[in-house]
Amino acid sequence: MSAPTPILEVRDAVKHFDGLRAVAGASFDVARGSITALIGPNGAGKTTMLDLLSGFARLDAGAIRLANRSIAGMAPHQIARLGLVRTFQLTRVLAGISVLDNMLLAAPRQPGEHIPSLLASPRLARQREARARLAAEELLETFGLRLKAADYAGSLSGGERKLLEIARALMTESSIVLLDEPMAGVSPRLGRSILDRIAILRQERGTTFLFVEHDMDAVMSRADKVVVMAQGRVIATGTPAEIRADSMVVEAYLGGLAGERVP
Ligand SMILES: Nc1ncnc2c1ncn2[C@@H]1O[C@H](COP(=O)(O)OP(=O)(O)OP(=O)(O)O)[C@@H](O)[C@H]1O
Ligand SMILES: [Mg+2]
Repeated sequence: MSAPTPILEVRDAVKHFDGLRAVAGASFDVARGSITALIGPNGAGKTTMLDLLSGFARLDAGAIRLANRSIAGMAPHQIARLGLVRTFQLTRVLAGISVLDNMLLAAPRQPGEHIPSLLASPRLARQREARARLAAEELLETFGLRLKAADYAGSLSGGERKLLEIARALMTESSIVLLDEPMAGVSPRLGRSILDRIAILRQERGTTFLFVEHDMDAVMSRADKVVVMAQGRVIATGTPAEIRADSMVVEAYLGGLAGERVP
């Protein structure tokens, strides 16, 4: 019996910036439907890895496959169409439109749907809009942004913008969502509600999540699998329990905290 194909396969990925090897031959898989954490010290290459996976940076060598298809050289919008979206460590939302419109712009198109058919069938268009609005309001509620739905996204605080960016990524109904430090800069309570929402979406829709996070309690309690990077390489992969017990990881990253911070 062979295992099901992972949704993401990264093989010997390399990315240089001038002389620096930010990603230096990294390989790992992300299982379909998993919540996988990508951890490692500052500068380990985690964000660069998300950039490579989402098309915001180009591989110098190696291979990346999304659902069995090579995505090397593809632009972010092409990769998004194949079902992968990401959020940024430094948030990017559309400041000049409302919070709700940021969400509605991310609403998924239905299969076969195109503008002429929507024009020909106002009923179809209304149904689609009502469905998107409901989904948007539900997500905004979860992220504590419902009362801000009509505000310009540019008027939100840094933490709120981050929440909006994550809510917007979830709105796309992509099959895999990459999150770069979803808990950084938001309150612990909201951080937990983000992770709760992720767990629910995985359960309900089978969405796969790959998230970069420095909060080890969150990583160890929420991830099924942990990928550890250091100096551009993957130095370990395993379950949270295996990672906590891995002496190389403890030395490279977790330090003296590894044994203490059991959730
Ligand atoms: N656009 C760039 N140009 C030059 N160097 C870069 C660029 N992006 C990242 N780097 C360098 O590549 C290395 C890896 O950076 P990266 O941002 O991927 O690390 P990270 O693991 O996400 O760290 P952190 O936990 O601090 O976010 C660092 O040394 C960084 O300075
Ligand atoms: Mg980073």
